[in-house]
Amino acid sequence: MDLIEQIKQNARENKQRIVLPEGDEARTLKAADQLIADGIADVILIGPAQTIKDMAAEFELKNIDKACIVDPKNNPNRDKYANLLFELRKSKGMTIEEAQGLAENFMYLGVLMLKAGDADGLVSGARSTTGDMLRPALQIIKTAPGVSCVSGAFIMFLPNDKYGTDGKIVCADCAVTPVPTAEQLAEIAVCTADTAKNIAKIDPKVAMLSFSTKGSAKHEDVDKVIKATELAKQMRPDICIDGELQADAAIVPSVGASKAPGSEVAGKANTLVFPRLEVGNIAYKLVQRLAGAEAVGPVLQGFAKPCNDLSRGCSIDDIYKLVAITCNQAIAQKNS
Ligand code: ACO
Repeated sequence: MDLIEQIKQNARENKQRIVLPEGDEARTLKAADQLIADGIADVILIGPAQTIKDMAAEFELKNIDKACIVDPKNNPNRDKYANLLFELRKSKGMTIEEAQGLAENFMYLGVLMLKAGDADGLVSGARSTTGDMLRPALQIIKTAPGVSCVSGAFIMFLPNDKYGTDGKIVCADCAVTPVPTAEQLAEIAVCTADTAKNIAKIDPKVAMLSFSTKGSAKHEDVDKVIKATELAKQMRPDICIDGELQADAAIVPSVGASKAPGSEVAGKANTLVFPRLEVGNIAYKLVQRLAGAEAVGPVLQGFAKPCNDLSRGCSIDDIYKLVAITCNQAIAQKNS
């Protein structure tokens, strides 16, 4: 069974409640209809109830009546969520009036439902920028214990199975933290290894990427990757991780053997950690476009509860897959 089928099956067998804050966005609504039809998740749609019902009728969606619709402007639980937000953010200067206003904002409401335990996961971003989606989640959901830095991984399905594990490579950070410190980079490596294992179902061999392999270049950016590699090894001795490695030394067996002899990762890496967001974001998009790889994600990692961001250019299928992945993250978190 291919990976996406496995992810869907696991979601079906362990149904999770997924909140979609952009419930009145056409692609999101169509994806929700299919997710309900396939039994992948119990769907919560945030948005004006009548608009959602009208859109469902217009698109002839037969399953939306099985979704739970939460209308932010007519929400009997508004005060519960406003009070929760106020308690969480009053030390940052938020007033109760501001919290009441934000509890009617679709994105804040979705994040608050997740925080309150009224949903198990969240997927949003079909019409919001990454920053607008991320900020409420970073402020309210916060990071998982032992993690200070959220990041975003992509599962890359390459058109041939020459690289990675059967053509599958997980890479990060491609989405969130612009310039990580060495400590943050170590956390990103650990979180990415867990995403590779729990979501991509591969045995992670993690390469900490650089423009240097094992001291071939001297620079403060190289030093950061070396330090991050050491920290990640200390944090999680169980993970197979090595660095600093250039990209070819990481994934090409002959180059790995000549530049980093004896490394358990060089030439065999299936999990790539980029030194900064600029590199990761550009690299995954180039591999997607120039090599014709399928890029599934970003799978956000490091949050205390699973919330995931869509690209504004996403398809209905992208939303469907990301919801199924979010269900798998929620299941993995509950079982950990
Ligand atoms: N991890 C954990 N917490 C964080 C992080 C992080 N990476 N960044 C910020 N925070 C926390 C802060 O500590 C703060 O918490 P607090 O308010 O409780 O003190 C809260 O989030 C808000 O922090 P700000 O500094 O106000 O947020 P900022 O303006 O820095 O925005 C953001 C954070 C949105 C993640 C920003 O760094 C960003 O825009 N990153 C790039 C996102 C992006 O555009 N990615 C590329 C597109 S995605 C794609 O192509 C797949």
